[in-house]
Amino acid sequence: MDSSRLTLIAGATGQIGSSVGMHLFEQQGWNPLGLARTPQKDAPYPMLALDLTDAQDCLNKIAALSNVTHVLYAARYDHFGGELESRETNVRMLENLLNALDSVSGNLQHIHLVHGTKYYGHTVKERRTPYQEDDACGNFNSFYYEQQCLLEQRQRGKRWSWSISRPHAFCNYRVDEARNMILLVGLYASILRELGLPLVYPGTMRSYRAKTQFSWLPTLARAATWMMTDERCANQAYNIVNGDPMSWSELWPHFADYFGMELGTPEDATFVDFARQHAQTWTGMVSKYGLRRTDLTTLAQWPYGDYVMSLQWDVVSSMDKAARDGFHERVNTTNMWLEGFDFFRSQKIIP
Ligand SMILES: NC(=O)c1ccc[n+]([C@@H]2O[C@H](COP(=O)([O-])OP(=O)(O)OC[C@H]3O[C@@H](n4cnc5c(N)ncnc54)[C@H](OP(=O)(O)O)[C@@H]3O)[C@@H](O)[C@H]2O)c1
Repeated sequence: MDSSRLTLIAGATGQIGSSVGMHLFEQQGWNPLGLARTPQKDAPYPMLALDLTDAQDCLNKIAALSNVTHVLYAARYDHFGGELESRETNVRMLENLLNALDSVSGNLQHIHLVHGTKYYGHTVKERRTPYQEDDACGNFNSFYYEQQCLLEQRQRGKRWSWSISRPHAFCNYRVDEARNMILLVGLYASILRELGLPLVYPGTMRSYRAKTQFSWLPTLARAATWMMTDERCANQAYNIVNGDPMSWSELWPHFADYFGMELGTPEDATFVDFARQHAQTWTGMVSKYGLRRTDLTTLAQWPYGDYVMSLQWDVVSSMDKAARDGFHERVNTTNMWLEGFDFFRSQKIIP
């Protein structure tokens, strides 16, 4: 392992940046250096306070980093769930960083961007599945396409290479991450069970039956290190998902079994309303079961749950290209969910 690497993690406090940063920290030789506007004070590795929207701040602070060898870019401008994110701001953030790196890029080997299935326009319209990496972009309003074009253009004639991962809904076992479907469904199911109700799917029959997919975050972290080091990945994008697309109608019976509940039929309802209506019930459950003291409305990001369940068609990415080029990791999605419920129980977050 090359101990002279220095890996700049842009967006090091975010859902993805923090997990990938920890993964790199635990591997020998990656030497992560985090970057965010408000860095984590107790981070186990160094962090830099930098505002990527501020071109001068980038030039000033990146100037001292001539030994950066790798960049993992997982920054994403402020977003609140479900809304269209600013393409212009996100592209400018990457551009400011690339401009600043230009003057110190003598040691730069690779820049990896974490993107996602929005590239294919999975929220915009139904299209042929599985999505392949060279399918045409299906959502020019997302910032992915322009960031990728910018990166391709800036790489020409340079010694460094780039790669991009396209994961889907992330899953991880963390108690401090509200954008977490396993936690959200675990809370939802345990409240319904407490009320003696069946496990109803909150959404349309179509979304219940459509195939969907997830990305296990530790797998994405390993895939990112593969892309940053394997020559076959130079200047390529890869889908990174668990690899066993499933419908909610296939998962829901496993969840009902796990919680010892009757399986309900889909109903037109939202997680947001559910959390609002059952905050009191939750407070009672926290005392009754000796759980960690939490506020139901903020413990999980309920609008994110509604967004995930809102898709009315199959969303499936092909893992063939990753396998062809050497990444073979697959995750059993059902086990990932059930072991996740075990985790949140062991942490006294759900009963
Ligand atoms: N989360 C998912 O399920 C998911 C799924 C598929 C794809 N993706 C993609 O993965 C990438 C990362 O997303 P994420 O969900 O991990 O993001 P996130 O949790 O919202 O984190 C964003 C990160 O960017 C930093 N940041 C924001 N504005 C900044 C600025 N002006 N200057 C410097 N740093 C800034 C934030 O820290 P500060 O606020 O302290 O600056 C934070 O560390 C995005 O491209 C996203 O679309 C995410």
